[in-house]
Amino acid sequence: MRLVIRKDYDEVSYHVAKYVKERVNEFAPSANRPFVLGLPTGSSPVGVYRNLVKFYQDGELSFRHIVTFNMDEYVGLPRDHPQSYHTFMWNHLFKYVDILPENVNILDGNALDLDLECQRYEEKIFAFGGIELFLGGIGPDGHIAFNEPGSSLNSRTRVKTLAYDTIVANARFFDNDITKVPNLALTVGVGTVVDAREVCIIITGAHKALALAKCIEEGMNHMWTVSAIQIHPRGMIVCDEDATLELHVKTVNYFKSIEKVHEELIGSGNVGLQGGVRSWPGALRSAYHA
Ligand code: GLP
Repeated sequence: MRLVIRKDYDEVSYHVAKYVKERVNEFAPSANRPFVLGLPTGSSPVGVYRNLVKFYQDGELSFRHIVTFNMDEYVGLPRDHPQSYHTFMWNHLFKYVDILPENVNILDGNALDLDLECQRYEEKIFAFGGIELFLGGIGPDGHIAFNEPGSSLNSRTRVKTLAYDTIVANARFFDNDITKVPNLALTVGVGTVVDAREVCIIITGAHKALALAKCIEEGMNHMWTVSAIQIHPRGMIVCDEDATLELHVKTVNYFKSIEKVHEELIGSGNVGLQGGVRSWPGALRSAYHA
């Protein structure tokens, strides 16, 4: 697993967006071989989406051959409700880029049969050959998507009851009235996320510092579901300085030094010469992640 530390939210957002752009362009997606991208909602990815829109406007990135699967959606909230994740995604990203509406996948929290909707979602991800890159955020309790503490680390897409802490945290989007926050959601499982070929988690702010420490300095634990990233061969967390406040200095220095060495290797070109490795970007990325 890799931890990338940037100064603040803006630098984190730029780093993640640039990473997505580079991964998509390197993949060179086509109609027959689209890039399958998993996406989160919440305040964490807003800056990333802003940068992705800018890349699109500058002609550096196209969404034409990108297929997206969102992480989660509230149950029972009308699709056009201002706080539905459908509305969020169109208002922050999709309506500004050239994505084909039929390539956007968001769970339907108003489906008549919610279990069937979840099963259908898993099957569709499978039919696309799995998710290439899953972006995510976390809640202050370390939940990923809506996989609240205690969720099975093998869980798949399903209906989930929201933890009281999450309802309170999300009340800011519902006039600070917890009675307006839905208490059920559809969510991809922890297993669905870690099945992606690559996972990138955005963690910013001092209020998430404890979750980050639990996630990377302690063992994998269902009470901090983001810690499942530890078993992923290509897992990356991009955080800001504030989110590192609960980490040991040793941990911070270690991950900073790894990144420094990695960047020096990219600059020198030595890996390709010494290792006889021709496929530079892939090989370097593997070395950097695992
Ligand atoms: C909700 C979402 C999560 C998200 C979390 C954090 O619980 N279901 O996917 O990561 O909020 O939101 P924020 O980024 O606003 O802190």
